[in-house]
Amino acid sequence: MNDVKKIFDKWAQNGRAELMESEHGSNVSKFLQTIVFDKPFTFLDVRCGNEWVVREIAKKNNCKKSIGIDISKNMIIQAGKKVDNNKELFVHTDIESWNYKGKFDFIFSMESLY
Ligand SMILES: C[S@@+](CC[C@H](N)C(=O)[O-])C[C@H]1O[C@@H](n2cnc3c(N)ncnc32)[C@H](O)[C@@H]1O
Repeated sequence: MNDVKKIFDKWAQNGRAELMESEHGSNVSKFLQTIVFDKPFTFLDVRCGNEWVVREIAKKNNCKKSIGIDISKNMIIQAGKKVDNNKELFVHTDIESWNYKGKFDFIFSMESLY
């Protein structure tokens, strides 16, 4: 787990996080377009990286909350710097020990299992 943190802490600072956005963006957009967000909803991105999906989802009118969690502190710091609204929230945690009791309407994860 520590190795994973170290790798992605580096990626958050050396441009690899933005590279993931450009590499994954097209497929993720196609996928997200298949979902109808026609009612107020909450969204969770598990292993969110530097926040690009959380940001896209937060732009939708019906989005009440778009939350990203990631084990890499640097990813969460980078994500937090870009927030300009009160819908996005980022949490520094690993998914295995996240002690969240609430529910989400949508839970998403991109390239996070190896
Ligand atoms: C390949 S990146 C993908 C990031 C993002 N989903 C994307 O598509 O740009 C994998 C991410 O998962 C995070 N991660 C890996 N293991 C994790 C865990 N156990 N709990 C939370 N985040 C984790 C990493 O820190 C990294 O930001």
